[in-house]
Amino acid sequence: MDQRFNGKLCIVTGGGGEIGLATAKRLAEEGAAIALIDVKGLERSQEQLEKITKVNSYVCDVSRYPEVEATVDSVLKDFGHVDMLFNNAGIQGAFAPIHIYPVEDFHSVIEINLVGAFHVLRAVSAVMVAQGGGVIVNTASMAGVAGPVNMAAYGASKWAIVGMTKTAAKDLAPYNIRVNSIAPGFMGPGFMWDRQVDLQAQAGSQYYAADRDIVAQQMIGEVPMRRYGTIEEIPGTVAYLMSDDSSYSTGINIQISGGI
Ligand SMILES: NC(=O)c1ccc[n+]([C@@H]2O[C@H](COP(=O)([O-])OP(=O)(O)OC[C@H]3O[C@@H](n4cnc5c(N)ncnc54)[C@H](O)[C@@H]3O)[C@@H](O)[C@H]2O)c1
Repeated sequence: MDQRFNGKLCIVTGGGGEIGLATAKRLAEEGAAIALIDVKGLERSQEQLEKITKVNSYVCDVSRYPEVEATVDSVLKDFGHVDMLFNNAGIQGAFAPIHIYPVEDFHSVIEINLVGAFHVLRAVSAVMVAQGGGVIVNTASMAGVAGPVNMAAYGASKWAIVGMTKTAAKDLAPYNIRVNSIAPGFMGPGFMWDRQVDLQAQAGSQYYAADRDIVAQQMIGEVPMRRYGTIEEIPGTVAYLMSDDSSYSTGINIQISGGI
């Protein structure tokens, strides 16, 4: 494999999760050292990445700015520089139509997916500005391109990520920092796919059946390529955006969605 990231350090938030781990592995295979950040589940990722590269894990809730700032300081002390950020932590939240959507849940999805992503972007970009450059990829979603049924908070948070990416790209271009986002569609098999199929089935909407297997078929039927994507189809796009192969691209949102 090319060693496009030799000598570079990438922070990966949501590093205990499926997309975070798969992407960290790909960047590590191309030479990057990795700083994993998550509220939980870091052991599995730490163990798998240690076989490939230098890696440290940091427990941190991205919705709390003081924790984020302290964690980024620790990363800087441990590695000396931060060259790349995969700003990827997120949750799906509840599934319910907007007139009965749980209010508390709306707040917590926005606090993690949007405010948390801002916290990480804020703290890491300050380091990159001081360093004289860097590359950032934010994880949005096709939910931030379309209006997903029963997912008001998640959809709103991901639309906001696409918008914040464009502003950050403009704010940071003078400092030699590129900022792009990815928009995965239906990805599986995995935690988020299973959860959304189950919860869409239970939500009782007119758009999906009450049987989870039929819901899975209905969702795949929305995809022109007639299959869900796999988690393994994400890291190559992130690596491309992190690399000099995309050196003139900033402020873009790449859809990984089978044509939706
Ligand atoms: N899997 C999909 O189908 C899909 C599709 C589109 C977008 N996404 C997005 O991709 C990203 C990664 O999702 P995934 O599929 O790997 O799911 P995942 O649940 O496996 O990983 C998400 C990770 O984020 C972490 N996290 C949650 N709240 C946090 C907080 N407050 N602070 C720090 N970490 C926190 C979780 O602990 C988890 O490890 C998310 O932003 C998600 O919205 C996923």
